[in-house]
Amino acid sequence: MTVHRSRPHDSGTLHVTGAARYADDIPTPANTLHLAFATSAIANGSITEMDLGAVEAADGVVAVLTARDLPFDNDVSPSAHDEPLLSTGSVHYIGQPIFLVVATSHLAARKAARLGQITYAKDTPILTIEDALAAESRFEEGPRIYAKGDVEAALGSAKHRLSGSIDIGGQEHFYLEGHAALALPQDGGEMVVHASSQHPTEIQHKVAEALGCPMNAVRVEVRRMGGGFGGKESQGNALCVACAIAARLTGWPCKMRYDRDDDMMITGKRHDFRIDYDVGFDDAGRVSGVDFTQYAKCGWAQDLSLPVADRAMLHADNAYLLDHARITSHRLKTNTQSNTAFRGFGGPQGILGIERVMDHVAHHLGVDPLQVRRANYYPSAASISAKTKPTTPYGMAVTDSILHELTEALEVSSDYQARRAAVSAWNAENAVLKKGIALTPVKFGISFTLTHLNQAGALVHVYQDGSIHLNHGGTEMGQGLFTKVAQVAASVFGVSPDRVQITATDTGKVPNTSATAASSGTDLNGMAVKAACETICDRMAAHFGGEVSFANGNVTTPGGVMRFEEAVKSAYEHRVSLSATGFYATPDVAWDRIKGQGRPFFYFAYGAAVTEVVIDTLTGENRILRADILHDCGASLNPALDIGQIEGGYVQGAGWLTTEELVWDDNGALKTHAPATYKIPCASDAPDVFNVALWEGDNPADTIYRSKAVGEPPLMLGISALMALSDAIASTGTAYPALDAPATAERVLAAVKRGQR
Ligand code: MTE
Ligand code: MOS
Repeated sequence: MTVHRSRPHDSGTLHVTGAARYADDIPTPANTLHLAFATSAIANGSITEMDLGAVEAADGVVAVLTARDLPFDNDVSPSAHDEPLLSTGSVHYIGQPIFLVVATSHLAARKAARLGQITYAKDTPILTIEDALAAESRFEEGPRIYAKGDVEAALGSAKHRLSGSIDIGGQEHFYLEGHAALALPQDGGEMVVHASSQHPTEIQHKVAEALGCPMNAVRVEVRRMGGGFGGKESQGNALCVACAIAARLTGWPCKMRYDRDDDMMITGKRHDFRIDYDVGFDDAGRVSGVDFTQYAKCGWAQDLSLPVADRAMLHADNAYLLDHARITSHRLKTNTQSNTAFRGFGGPQGILGIERVMDHVAHHLGVDPLQVRRANYYPSAASISAKTKPTTPYGMAVTDSILHELTEALEVSSDYQARRAAVSAWNAENAVLKKGIALTPVKFGISFTLTHLNQAGALVHVYQDGSIHLNHGGTEMGQGLFTKVAQVAASVFGVSPDRVQITATDTGKVPNTSATAASSGTDLNGMAVKAACETICDRMAAHFGGEVSFANGNVTTPGGVMRFEEAVKSAYEHRVSLSATGFYATPDVAWDRIKGQGRPFFYFAYGAAVTEVVIDTLTGENRILRADILHDCGASLNPALDIGQIEGGYVQGAGWLTTEELVWDDNGALKTHAPATYKIPCASDAPDVFNVALWEGDNPADTIYRSKAVGEPPLMLGISALMALSDAIASTGTAYPALDAPATAERVLAAVKRGQR
């Protein structure tokens, strides 16, 4: 079998040599036109006058389109029909597209877009969580509440009680390849679109709406993205729809690519949150009741904010069994970019809330936070009785927790106790540089919470020479999905993965797909591909008249052993169909998001990380010295790729919580819209000592070859970096550091100073 083995990413060589073709690299036909948006300069108000004469007269300009020129729907929203492609007169954030320039070159379009004379009537913008609360500016009528037990009583009778609040900044996706699209008009009004999108079916749907045609007249193709991270689930709709409309109106191919600053100004990011908490606990730090209020800054349009905020609520427990809990969630509408999916989809913010609580409780009791975390862990499978299954605040039984065992193993492999002692000894001797260490766990729910999205399709052809053509609904964004799924196909046919041709995602081959998201790409598409391959194997078995097995490039039939290609040729010559579709729908999931009850997840993925940091108490500068991770991928399909996801996820999570800071000015303009001002981690920010291991226990969930999803969960391991900083700061004074995120050097310094007062 070729699953459970490390293999390089199928495009690894192409990536590192620069030969991999992204949307912007696709050779374009002659006369291809280029597009650019002109965007709003104010955060809230209306357009009173628009003079586009200079734009129309500019060099290379072919057409200038406003909302009035759009033939059908002016809407690129993935959810609530509240997101016009071009402003209809009101503007809602600085960066909102107002008009569209179609020109003979990318540069001509961008230059001309700046020449519009727009006059606005300004309204006061709602920019922050506080502004939105004061103005009652929100999506959904009131807050959503999920609850378990009797929180008031538990808080009232608790031996100890604490309350606090954490501000959590957003995060720019910073995929290396920005958004891009190319629309190619076809005969009779049909349209082919090449996109950089995690969700080709959504692009097809929105383009069809905008062109006023059925979905069957639009075909969308995505070979790969240079990163998506959730930022390409919905935010590419605007470019694809713009290109398709311009292509329809002009008759020429149309292409659009955001430059980095435009990408950051126009598109949504991770939701900023504030989480307030009130917690009751005993002397051991065991939480008896906790009341969370989550405030999500959603931006101007709904986009995916409701399910993101739901997932934050669904992860408010993280690894901990809470008997009495209430989670209240406010989804706030602001005059800023429309925040969207970002690796973890709200889960990271929810988890950070309870990790802050664990840290705060431990500080109050003067014990190691690890002790408090463990005291609250969900029990392990072995210690659960059939009658009393531990449940989450939303009523789902947690019967697969391995966190006690996993934490113990990590504690040993990372030498946690000795290093904690060494950190204390260091801090006792050093006045300026202080160290900190923290171990934090992750439990992350796998499945789309919108149950019907948990489906996938595949299309597999075996050609008469024995080569295999593989297609499915998932998209490749660097995570290695195509490689893993090719390993699945190769395993079913018992051949080398080199025989499997990976092909671009194409809405004409597999229809009605879900976004490649929620970490479930391999779970869903792997199963669909397996089903398709098995159908072909079954037909071959019928052809050979009995049991047939596939291994090592051979097919063993009742009549003898032959090479795979010989068996295929024989089947072909006897008119056996060698092409099949496959389909998979995740079993056992059912969720009522209004009641907040059910089983939203097929299973949980687990992991834990230990991070050690050092801070300079005079400047606030800090770095990660070492990270040790033990993560659960079930029976990994490809350990090398999974370790890559874990390392990348951890660094991206640590970046979110330390150096990546989004700053808007008082007018609502994003000031950090390029790498000069927005600091993502670079190679030198990865821990010098970085030990990543995979958990080797059994996976009880019936998943593709017993593997577990790995795309998002490791991001939350980065929380250990923030908690280690909190530990280092705590050593400098007596007050609880109450560190907000991101813990930039300024924030670390401020926390040190607060503690010393
Ligand atoms: N890894 C890379 N290299 N690039 C990405 O864009 N996106 C992440 C994760 N890992 C991403 C990545 C996100 S947000 C998700 S949901 C998953 O990959 C999606 O892929 P999967 O479902 O195949 O894991
Ligand atoms: Mo990932 S945030 O589910 O695209």
